[in-house]
Amino acid sequence: MSHALQSTRTAPRSALDADAVRAAYRRWAGVYDAVFGGVSAFGRRRAAAAVNQLPGKRVLEVGVGTGLALLHYVSEKRITGIDLSEEMLARARERVAEDGLANVEALQEMDAEATCFADASFDIAVAMFVASVVPNPRRLLAEMRRVVRPGGHILLVNHFAAERGPRWWAERALAPASRALGWHPDFTMDALFAPGEPRTWQTEAVPPFGLFTLLKLGN
Ligand SMILES: C[S@@+](CC[C@H](N)C(=O)[O-])C[C@H]1O[C@@H](n2cnc3c(N)ncnc32)[C@H](O)[C@@H]1O
Repeated sequence: MSHALQSTRTAPRSALDADAVRAAYRRWAGVYDAVFGGVSAFGRRRAAAAVNQLPGKRVLEVGVGTGLALLHYVSEKRITGIDLSEEMLARARERVAEDGLANVEALQEMDAEATCFADASFDIAVAMFVASVVPNPRRLLAEMRRVVRPGGHILLVNHFAAERGPRWWAERALAPASRALGWHPDFTMDALFAPGEPRTWQTEAVPPFGLFTLLKLGN
C-alpha cells in the first residue's frame, strides 16, 4: 500500500474550509467510529454494495475517513482512499492492516476537490458522508467526474437537510456550529448541482428513517 502524503490546499475559505475540516477531524478521529459508525452504517453498506455491483475494478473512495467502508468491498475491487485528515487516515491504515485488506491499494492525504489523479483514472468514485463536509461540493462532484472514465459511475451517500418540519428547525439551529461539528447540518442537494442542471441521477432513501440518501450518477 502506498502511504504517500500529498497534501494540497483548497482555494476559498468558507464556513467550513480545509483547515477547519482538518481541525474538526483531528478531534473526531479517536471517537469517530463509536459516535458515527453506528447511525451511518446502513448508508455505508448500501453504497459499498452498489459499488460492488458496478462494472470496473478501479474504485476511488473520497473522504475515506477511518475506513469504515473498506471491509464492505468485494476483493475484486481495487480501492484507493483519500482524505484531508491524517488522523482519520491513520485509523484507516490500522484497519487495513488489522483486517488484511489486500485490495486497498493506497490511502493518501489529498484534497478531494483537487486531486492529483489523471483524467479517467477510475471506474467508480464514491463519497460517503463527505459532500456536506467539503468547502465546495460542486467542485467535489466535478473532480469526481473528471477522475472517473466516461461511462463510469459516481455514488454519494449523504444526509440532506429536511425541507420542513422539526428536522428542518433542528438542522438550521445547528448550522452556525458547522466549523466545530465538521459538517453542514443544513446541507441541501441543490448545493451539489448547478441551477438548471438536468437531474439525471438516481436517488434511494437509506435507513434509519430515510435520514440518508444514496445518489447514483452515470459519468
Ligand atoms: C463525516 S466523515 C466521513 C468519513 C467516511 N467516509 C465514513 O463514511 O465514515 C467526512 C470525511 O471527509 C473528509 N474530508 C472533508 N473534506 C475533504 C476534502 N476536501 N478532501 C478529502 N477529504 C475530505 C474528512 O476529513 C472526513 O474524514
